[in-house]
Amino acid sequence: MSNSTTTIKPHFDLAKRAASYRVVHPEDPAPAPTLRVHPDSARDLIYACGLTKSYRRHKTSVPVLKGVDFAAERGKITAIIGQSGSGKSTLLHLLGTLDRPDSGEIHFAGQRIDSLPVRQRDRFRNEQLGMIFQFYHLLPELTVLENVLAPAMISKGVFSYWRNLRPIQASAKKWIDLVGLGHRMNHRPCELSGGEMQRTAIARALINDPSILLADEPTGNLDQETGASILRLLQSLNRDHGLTIVMVTHDESVAQSCDSIVRLTGGKVERLPTLGIAANSGTN
Ligand SMILES: Nc1ncnc2c1ncn2[C@@H]1O[C@H](COP(=O)(O)OP(=O)(O)OP(=O)(O)O)[C@@H](O)[C@H]1O
Ligand SMILES: [Mg+2]
Repeated sequence: MSNSTTTIKPHFDLAKRAASYRVVHPEDPAPAPTLRVHPDSARDLIYACGLTKSYRRHKTSVPVLKGVDFAAERGKITAIIGQSGSGKSTLLHLLGTLDRPDSGEIHFAGQRIDSLPVRQRDRFRNEQLGMIFQFYHLLPELTVLENVLAPAMISKGVFSYWRNLRPIQASAKKWIDLVGLGHRMNHRPCELSGGEMQRTAIARALINDPSILLADEPTGNLDQETGASILRLLQSLNRDHGLTIVMVTHDESVAQSCDSIVRLTGGKVERLPTLGIAANSGTN
């Protein structure tokens, strides 16, 4: 047996095998078996089916989403309502690819996005999504202008950012003017009111010209009048720029001004009728 001829495999086999290896990021899932196309991708810009999500606390698992189906139509405003703790922010974070579902799929413009590798997901988020967070998340040491410029710097990379600084700054100033903060350009967040911080967060969400805006309680921490002005601003962005908006809100009247409403309850979503107060009925 030991005398039998040993076959030595040629080395180029190794090169072939090495080429077939892929570097796996620890967060990357196994590649999706198929890239299914959502049948209504012409109508729905973002679409999710069968989403489940649990959080683990010590040894217990807290199920939050238990099979959520969700769709947001292009060019429309969709409201997500539900009790505190029902999972509204969790759902928004999954749609925004900031977190991953335990199971289920999310499609954007017909392409599956929840299973994208980390870098592609980051690029997708930067190029296609604008996000407004429940508590603004502005960087305290930066001015209004610098906060709004930050996502542009991240998406373009430092070199291209500095080379194109003038048009990028012009675009930032245009959005800051549009949200009514032209006179606060060089102020820091601690020098702004809640409504002004929210307006800064909106301008920041728009700097990369997203296709969809995901807004988590954009009027939640504001008095009624300021909240109403933020709502009018979002409605005008939808009406004048065709921006698709998904908005989490506690406020029934805000929800009723949207094109469609879904409610999260018991970890699932139900679609509610609206009173037909169209967002683009000229409330501005
Ligand atoms: N990172 C986390 N780790 C553990 N549990 C979490 C985490 N994030 C959220 N949860 C839990 O998941 C549930 C849903 O939270 P989520 O923030 O999505 O609710 P919500 O509907 O946005 O509530 P609210 O209206 O108060 O903002 C809550 O019970 C919350 O405690
Ligand atoms: Mg929340």
